[in-house]
Amino acid sequence: MTIWHERWSANQIGFHRAVPHDLLTKHWAAIGSAPDAHVLVPLCGKSLDMHWLVEQGHSVTGVELVREAAQAFFQEMDVKPILETDGAISRYAFSKNVILQGDLFAVSPSMVSCDAWYDRAALVALPSSMRPEYVDQIHSLCTQGAVGLMITFAYPQEQMQGPPFSLPDDEVLSLFESRFDVELLDKIDLEDEKQRGLSTLTSSVYKLTRR
Ligand SMILES: C[S@@+](CC[C@H](N)C(=O)[O-])C[C@H]1O[C@@H](n2cnc3c(N)ncnc32)[C@H](O)[C@@H]1O
Repeated sequence: MTIWHERWSANQIGFHRAVPHDLLTKHWAAIGSAPDAHVLVPLCGKSLDMHWLVEQGHSVTGVELVREAAQAFFQEMDVKPILETDGAISRYAFSKNVILQGDLFAVSPSMVSCDAWYDRAALVALPSSMRPEYVDQIHSLCTQGAVGLMITFAYPQEQMQGPPFSLPDDEVLSLFESRFDVELLDKIDLEDEKQRGLSTLTSSVYKLTRR
C-alpha cells in the first residue's frame, strides 16, 4: 500500500478542490491548445478540473493510481463508466472523460497519446528523484508540439515534509529545457498558505511546449 492509497482510504485529500482551479481557468487559453485537443491529466485524483476541460470542448484522459479516486470521480458525476482492463491498467470511460487507473509509469503511448496536458499537484507530488522519469513519461505520452499548463509550489523544503515537495523554478528549467520550450506565465505569493509554518510559499504557472 502506498502513501496515496492510505490517504484516499483515510479521506485525507486536502488537495482536492470543490471548484475548478482558478489558475487553470485564468491561464488555459494562454497555452493555445487546439479547441478539440486531447488533454492528459497525470495524477488526476478526482479533480473537477477534468470536467472544466471537457466543458471547453476537450477530450480528457486522467491517470490515477488509486481505484477509489477514479471510481469517486464518476460516482460524483452520477454516471456509470465503461470499464476495460489492460494488464495493470484499468480504463474507466464515460463520454469524453477517461481515467486510466494505475501507475503513470506503467502507461504506454499505445494506451494514450495527447496533444496537451495539465499538471496541477502532479510533479510536485513526486520527490525530486522521480521527476526525470515523470518528464520522460510526459514526453512519450504527448505528441510533438503538444502544449502543457503546469502549476507548481516552491518553499524551503527543510520547513515541511512533502508531499507536496518544493519545485523551484530552476529545477523546472533543468528538468524540461532540453526537450521542451519553457515559459513562465505567472508567479504568485501564496500569503494565506503560510499558516503551514512556511517562511515563503510561491506558485508558478508555466506554459511548456514539447519540441
Ligand atoms: C496531490 S494529488 C493531486 C490530484 C489532482 N491533480 C488534483 O489537483 O486534485 C496526487 C494524486 O496522484 C496520485 N498518484 C500518486 N502517484 C501516482 C502514480 N505513480 N501514478 C498515478 N497516480 C499517482 C495520488 O493517488 C493522488 O490522487
